Amino acid sequence: MEGFAGKVAAVTGAGSGIGQALALELGRSGATLAISDVELEGLGQTEERLRDLGVPVRADRLDVTEREAFAAYADQINEHFGKVNQIYNNAGIAFTGDIEVSAFKDIERVMDIDFWGVVNGTKAFLPHLIASGDGHIVNVSSLFGLMSMPGQAAYNSAKFAVRGFTEALRQEMTLNGHPVKVTCVHPGGIKTAIARNGAAAEGVDPELTARFFDKRLANTTPRRAAEIILEAVRKNRARVLVGPDAKVLDAIVRVTGSGYQRLLLPVVGRIKPPSR
Ligand SMILES: NC(=O)c1ccc[n+]([C@@H]2O[C@H](COP(=O)([O-])OP(=O)(O)OC[C@H]3O[C@@H](n4cnc5c(N)ncnc54)[C@H](O)[C@@H]3O)[C@@H](O)[C@H]2O)c1
Repeated sequence: MEGFAGKVAAVTGAGSGIGQALALELGRSGATLAISDVELEGLGQTEERLRDLGVPVRADRLDVTEREAFAAYADQINEHFGKVNQIYNNAGIAFTGDIEVSAFKDIERVMDIDFWGVVNGTKAFLPHLIASGDGHIVNVSSLFGLMSMPGQAAYNSAKFAVRGFTEALRQEMTLNGHPVKVTCVHPGGIKTAIARNGAAAEGVDPELTARFFDKRLANTTPRRAAEIILEAVRKNRARVLVGPDAKVLDAIVRVTGSGYQRLLLPVVGRIKPPSR
């Protein structure tokens, strides 16, 4: 795939899964990459694979919850490459647990990474993207930013918030005449380490949850997810649904409105990760 020659793209959470696949697809499509993650081992692997492809790349350790560090990072990337065109706010974590048994600190951690990480990245890069004259902000929400699931309240809250934030941003960029496109990404189950990397509330077995996700819910490969996302970026789509599960469930939510909560409960009850 071509189409990003001459563009500088920054990807957070690029050491694994969708972020790694996005970085590689962007590199194959001609982009120059600024990749970051908190996990240096995976980040190093992504960097090596990009270098093997001959892609110009800079890799940095970045925790998306650290607001000041994020702002300084955006300035450094802009200075290093002379411009930045795209930010993929992709870094995220999973958390499973009913509200009744979820600790405040766990809910806050999900919001810190999955929501505030996106806000930090958007605000840090926005001035540089405007200055580039051809910017694009790609924020990763989820199918769970379109519909809620029992056991996913923290994650649902963060991903619904990402969607609200991103949809307002897109309208603001247009109204204010800024040369920045905005896309909100809603993946269904993607075969990544997200569940294995995720946390769980007291009484929920993270190991069982991860095995259940890997076997039953993750259907689309990260590479296919990256191809779908980048096609939507090329076409300047406001929203991209990734995977057949995301498309089907989004359609059900649209048709039934809040009725999906009752309609899907018997199914959701069966696919809810098992407790210890
Ligand atoms: N895999 C799915 O089924 C799925 C579905 C919907 C949405 N998503 C979203 O896609 C995005 C990528 O997830 P993935 O499936 O590739 O998971 P993953 O666990 O494979 O990769 C996530 C990456 O984010 C990094 N990360 C975590 N916390 C961070 C922090 N504070 N700062 C910087 N980096 C951090 C991790 O180290 C990891 O490399 C996430 O936002 C996730 O919520 C995934």
